[in-house]
Amino acid sequence: MSARYAHITGWGMAVPDRVLTNLELTRMVDTTDEWIVSRTGIRERHIALPDETTASLGTEAAINALAVANLSPADIDLIIVATSSPEHLFPATACLIQDRIGATKAGAFDLMAACSGFMYALNMATQAIRSESCENALVIGAETLSRIVNWKDRETCVLFGDGAGAFVLQACDEPAGVLSAIMRSDGSGGDLLKVPAGGSRLPANMETVRDGSHFIRMNGREVYRFATRVMAQATREAVEAAHLTMDDIRLVVPHQANLRIIQAAARSLDIPMERCKVNLDRYGNTSTASIPIAVCEAVKEGCISPGDRVVFVGFGAGLTWGAAVVQWSGPFTTRSRIRPARIRFLARLRSLLLRLLRHLEGFIWGRR
Ligand code: ACO
Repeated sequence: MSARYAHITGWGMAVPDRVLTNLELTRMVDTTDEWIVSRTGIRERHIALPDETTASLGTEAAINALAVANLSPADIDLIIVATSSPEHLFPATACLIQDRIGATKAGAFDLMAACSGFMYALNMATQAIRSESCENALVIGAETLSRIVNWKDRETCVLFGDGAGAFVLQACDEPAGVLSAIMRSDGSGGDLLKVPAGGSRLPANMETVRDGSHFIRMNGREVYRFATRVMAQATREAVEAAHLTMDDIRLVVPHQANLRIIQAAARSLDIPMERCKVNLDRYGNTSTASIPIAVCEAVKEGCISPGDRVVFVGFGAGLTWGAAVVQWSGPFTTRSRIRPARIRFLARLRSLLLRLLRHLEGFIWGRR
């Protein structure tokens, strides 16, 4: 029996139109453009408007990825949404997206591994394809972190942004696609970056709302020390697992948290910054969405082409970290042409009919 590989055949991104600059932040908290740029590299970030949510951004990114792959939502078997800002504890944001794109045959679930979530989800979808339990998977990183950021805390509010990115993964016998993937964790550092309240440990009450425990709290210095240690280490491990060396890698796409962390990783890996994708200056840290958004831009700029070997590497709360080596393939050639507007319309119609049917069934059978 021949081995199966998970090829990345579609990619897409979506960010809100609203841009929040460092200058605007100086009017909200005690900070300066100079401090933010010199300590983080961030100049602006996109912030969701009230009608934009994690699911709406994730849906747009998913539809864009399907259009690139030229694959119908009905052909998707699995949807994994990595997110640190899900719409609800349940239902999963993945199910909301499944409904909005009309992925009628897909299993759907959320995966929480903070900013490493996209690396974990990519790994899980790859395993599902390699074990032949699925043919086509959608992996989405989607965030509206602006809703869980404390806009009075200058140490965190300058860092984060909203957005979504998605990959379509498809099974293929040709050896390419995800060549290796590693996942690691260290829960002893769980206190360094967390949202203390709103879960079952500390449910919402007047006190938690008063002291802002539903917002992100972070020990920035410790997270920084951890990140600079694991980024290069994880990259090396993944490259070794793929039986390659850094010379075989065209581009490293790191989690976009802080320019200094990326520079430290590049130094440690002994590669020039030109071989690291950086776009955090325009998006800030979009958590699980940062790597797929950076990949979409790198492909558009011609920095990733079919045949190239690239590394994706991320870290985040948990603590968690992970990396993958991918041999880029691009879309499979297919005859049909997927039209995003049609996907949106048909999915909405189908969802409406299902809701109506459920209502009618309840009326006839259940409400006597
Ligand atoms: N504006 C001005 N001054 C500030 C600001 C700000 N926005 N934020 C902090 N400061 C001050 C601090 O209060 C401190 O003042 P003090 O010396 O008087 O106490 C001073 O700046 C230096 O603070 P440091 O924390 O030492 O600053 P540092 O150089 O470490 O940069 C930063 C802080 C940017 C947060 C950095 O530590 C970092 O990037 N850490 C990693 C964060 C990260 O990547 N988080 C995401 C993880 S992924 C996920 O799962 C969500």
